[in-house]
Amino acid sequence: MRISAPLSLAVLGLLPLFAIAQTPVAQQMASQVQLAPPQVAQTPPMGWNSWNYFAGKVTDKDIRDSADQIVSTGMRDAGYIYVNIDDTWEGERDSTGVLHSNSKFPDMKALADYVHSKGLKIGIYSSPGPKTCAGFEGSLGHEEQDAQLYASWGIDYLKYDLCSFIPAVMEKQAPNDKPAQMRLMVAAYDKMSKALKATGRPIVLSLCQYGWDSVWEWAPALGGNLWRTTGDIEPKWDRIYDLLEQQSGLASYAGPGHWNDPDMLEVGNGKLSLAENRSHFSMWTMLAAPLLAGNDLPHMKPEIKAILTNRDVIAIDQDPLGHQARHVYSIGEVEVWTRELKDGAIAIAILNAGSDVYSTHPFRLNLAKLRLHGTQTAKDLWSGKVIQLTENQPLELGSHDILLVRIDAPK
Ligand code: GLA
Repeated sequence: MRISAPLSLAVLGLLPLFAIAQTPVAQQMASQVQLAPPQVAQTPPMGWNSWNYFAGKVTDKDIRDSADQIVSTGMRDAGYIYVNIDDTWEGERDSTGVLHSNSKFPDMKALADYVHSKGLKIGIYSSPGPKTCAGFEGSLGHEEQDAQLYASWGIDYLKYDLCSFIPAVMEKQAPNDKPAQMRLMVAAYDKMSKALKATGRPIVLSLCQYGWDSVWEWAPALGGNLWRTTGDIEPKWDRIYDLLEQQSGLASYAGPGHWNDPDMLEVGNGKLSLAENRSHFSMWTMLAAPLLAGNDLPHMKPEIKAILTNRDVIAIDQDPLGHQARHVYSIGEVEVWTRELKDGAIAIAILNAGSDVYSTHPFRLNLAKLRLHGTQTAKDLWSGKVIQLTENQPLELGSHDILLVRIDAPK
């Protein structure tokens, strides 16, 4: 039986002693408690990442400004904790192999301290290859050294992006031998995972290798907390929908500590309509996806802020059960997904993926297919209203819009 520290001390009759003066036994136990690594990513990580908006232009000031905005917009209090620097921060290695940041990031430790001072955590990016995707310095041959460097700066999250490892190692060392190439890839992620663990600092490990070799089957065992399931997202509805369709069948691989990652959010980017932003966000929460906003926070419009900070919708994503939604049925271009939530509640998403409203006309909700019996009392999470859902109820949704509801007591 595992018992918590105060309980175990109480069982041993040491609690009063522990409270007054720590004996060597109590000290030892207390330090063991402290040493036990806190579990990261028990719910899908939430935060912001620089790539989708700033890409290669990101600077130290952009990260600080974004951290400030996360606090002032209320995003931090809504759960967005990680501020993640993506590619293009890397400079050169010195003669001892220590990597330095480039001139856009004059002092990484000071930047990490600044982000931490806001009650936030900070993430960084690298590649197992010699170069990152944007051609900057990768970690090949310096994995332990880099992990120690991140820990010394106070880094809390690493996105590790395959990129040049493919030509430089996989194709070179195992030409025309796909299974051997995949083994090299898995070993590279395992190596960095071990290097991070050896630092003693809890650091979220995000695998970015675009879903190759059914990454969801092996990433949790080597300590991956999330893994990209696809290629890159773009701020276009067709691409977002394409990524959504690739998530079917992956639900059983998600759970506390380890998540499918259909890529970072594009909410507020490009020319997405309000309905598209709402649907994208809703479906990512249904998928128990990491919620890493990627927009220009200092210039965020109120309607985008309202989407990103909708607590009811965020609560779907962060539900402690960690059960990813399943696509139950479609009629024409209307998709119905459901997600089991804590205490027997469920979330239902009805998405009009078609290009006009008539693709839902006359869509009728089939509650029996969702194993629900009779009229259900639900909360519409975008209007905030309590509604009744009846068997065969006609529903009309605008193009690319969504009805997202929570039923606390399904019948
Ligand atoms: C890859 C990743 C992106 C981003 C870029 C940076 O394309 O999939 O998310 O990190 O590299 O170069």
